[in-house]
Amino acid sequence: MTATRGKFITVEGSEGVGKSTNLQFISDYLQSCGKTVVMTREPGGTPVAEQIRAVLLESAQGSMTDHCELLLMFAARADHLEQVIRPALERGDWVLCDRFIDATYAYQGGGRGMSDRDIAVLEGFILQGLEPDLTILLDAAPEISAARRDARGISDRFEVEEAAFFARVREKYQQRAACYPARIALIDASGSLEEVQTALRTILTEKL
Ligand code: TMP
Repeated sequence: MTATRGKFITVEGSEGVGKSTNLQFISDYLQSCGKTVVMTREPGGTPVAEQIRAVLLESAQGSMTDHCELLLMFAARADHLEQVIRPALERGDWVLCDRFIDATYAYQGGGRGMSDRDIAVLEGFILQGLEPDLTILLDAAPEISAARRDARGISDRFEVEEAAFFARVREKYQQRAACYPARIALIDASGSLEEVQTALRTILTEKL
C-alpha cells in the first residue's frame, strides 16, 4: 500500500523575523492535528549539507565568489532533497523546512544580484519540478529585523552584510509572494507573537 504523499511546508524571511519560534509553533500545531512532522533546514539537513552550511556561514573564512556560494547552496540542497525531503514526503510525513528555494532567489538573486534565469536553471536541474505546497513568508521592516539580529549578537557571513543587502533580500521575497500568491503566504512579522501565531493558525487551517 502506498502512503499518501505528505505536504511540504517552507518558512522564509530575513534574519531576525522570528523564524525559529514560529517554526516550532507550526510543528506543534501540525502534530496536534495528527501529522508526523520532519523539521529540517537549509542549507543543511544532512551530515554533508551541514558541513556545506558551515563553509557558507563561516565569516572568518575569507571571500567566496557568488557562483561558488550559489552552487554550494544547490549542492547542499541536492543532498538534502534526495536523502531527507523526498523520502519523508513519500512516506507520507509532512516536511517543515526552515528556508528553501525562495531563499536562493532572495539572497543570491536579490542580495547578491545573480540572475533569476541562472537560478531557475539550477532549480530545474536539482528540484525536478518539486515545489513547496505552502511557503510562509515572515516579513518585517528591516529596522525590526536588524534590531533582533543585533540583539542575538552572533554574526555569520550573511548577517554581517549591510542594510542595503537585506533591503534587496526583502524586496525579492515580496516580489515572489506577489508572483506566487497561491503558494506563498506573507505574514506581517512585526506584530506581537500572539498576532503572528493567530495568522499562522488561520493560514494552516485554510490552506491545508
Ligand atoms: P539561517 O537558516 O540561520 O537563517 O541562516 C542561513 C543563511 O543562509 C541565511 O543568512 C540565508 C542564507 N541562505 C541563502 O543565502 N541562500 C539559500 O538558498 C538558503 C537556503 C539560505
